Amino acid sequence: MDTDVTEPDHPRPETADDASPFGPVGVIGAGAMGAGIAQVAATAGHAVTLVDAAPGAAAGAVEKISAALSRLVDKGRLSTDDARAVLERITPAEGLDELPNCGLVIEAVPEDLELKRRIFAELADRQPSTTLLATNTSSIDIDDIAAEVVDPERVLGLHFFNPPPVMQLVEVVHGDRTAQAFVEHATALMTAWGKTPVRCSSTPGFIVNRVARPFYGEAQRIVEEGIADAATVDWVLREKGGFPMGPFELTDFIGQDVNLAVGTSVWEQTGRDERYAPTALQQGLVEAGRLGRKSGRGVYPYAADGSIDRSVEGGEPDVELAERLVGGPVATDPLARTLAMLVNEAVDLVARGEADAADVDTAMRLGTRYPKGPIQWGREIGFDVVARQVAELDEVHPGGRYRPSPALTDGSLS
Ligand SMILES: NC(=O)c1ccc[n+]([C@@H]2O[C@H](COP(=O)([O-])OP(=O)(O)OC[C@H]3O[C@@H](n4cnc5c(N)ncnc54)[C@H](O)[C@@H]3O)[C@@H](O)[C@H]2O)c1
Repeated sequence: MDTDVTEPDHPRPETADDASPFGPVGVIGAGAMGAGIAQVAATAGHAVTLVDAAPGAAAGAVEKISAALSRLVDKGRLSTDDARAVLERITPAEGLDELPNCGLVIEAVPEDLELKRRIFAELADRQPSTTLLATNTSSIDIDDIAAEVVDPERVLGLHFFNPPPVMQLVEVVHGDRTAQAFVEHATALMTAWGKTPVRCSSTPGFIVNRVARPFYGEAQRIVEEGIADAATVDWVLREKGGFPMGPFELTDFIGQDVNLAVGTSVWEQTGRDERYAPTALQQGLVEAGRLGRKSGRGVYPYAADGSIDRSVEGGEPDVELAERLVGGPVATDPLARTLAMLVNEAVDLVARGEADAADVDTAMRLGTRYPKGPIQWGREIGFDVVARQVAELDEVHPGGRYRPSPALTDGSLS
């Protein structure tokens, strides 16, 4: 990484109502994420220009932000005056030519590399060379997005979670060419916005979407192998593991199609690593239109109020079976098998230098609401125990999916 860069000297605030020393913020794309990010930035005191190419979309998003702020006022979390001030700091716009010189621009347009590349090339052209250019991409490589930017050291990822005003976590993602000074600036800014930033390299899935893969994948395989049904696996992860939702409840909530797309993207970007291979079970659900809660049926059927209809066969867990599986051989214990692979994945990410251990644990607790970070879990279970469990899984299911990370046994994390 290029560290030979002087501290960026950010443009001074251009408007009287911009209270931040960092200067105005531009947000490109006023969809679910862009609108939320604009609200967060304006709440932190920045003058925000919210740009959307669709006529009227940015103005519509400002109306939604106004409604969200009113709800905060109703709940007593924001004063009427503050809500008005936040709203007044946001200006809707329809083109990049309407952006003032900014300290930071965050792009949140759809997940399309060509579109993002074009926008970054134009932003680099229009904005001062000191402006931080960030993307909210969930899965595209930062260096690919920066490909046509003449000074790619100022391009990085600021990966907010949905909804941005509520979710604490922001992954600050650096590409190979991002300058360390800009990473430091972005990290400090996210802290100033009241967020909890974690840092990682532009590795497929970043931290959260990478480390979480086994939570879904192992559960799907356990069902495919006929060890237990979905309701029983969910019960084990929830009741014995302390996870807020079981993997099938969670993927139904996220959308099986969305979860499959993220998993497939990580699989493709890792050269089709067997560890992330999509399962026939999930592909079948998506092909059948069983996308989860949003389509009325996923793994589970849903009642009109959005709750799982447990009256159907397989809706209730087999608790007796669950009690027998937990503590038995790792290959048939849904909790031990999932934890072993989560720890293995997390340890591997750290060992490759993509993120540090504390950030991985913070990211998984805040981004997915795991009860513990996987590295901490690994310490408690014992990394040597996890190594033996993964090796045992490899014996039962050979073929490269279950490869113990060397870092489990080399003492680097103890
Ligand atoms: N939705 C999520 O849960 C989530 C979470 C984290 C990250 N992300 C990422 O955030 C980004 C945006 O996602 P979203 O869910 O907000 O998408 P969205 O479809 O809700 O919004 C995208 C907006 O961008 C606008 N747009 C399209 N082309 C444009 C252009 N050339 N200039 C300006 N605006 C343009 C569209 O009109 C639309 O309003 C994606 O990269 C996505 O991967 C999404």
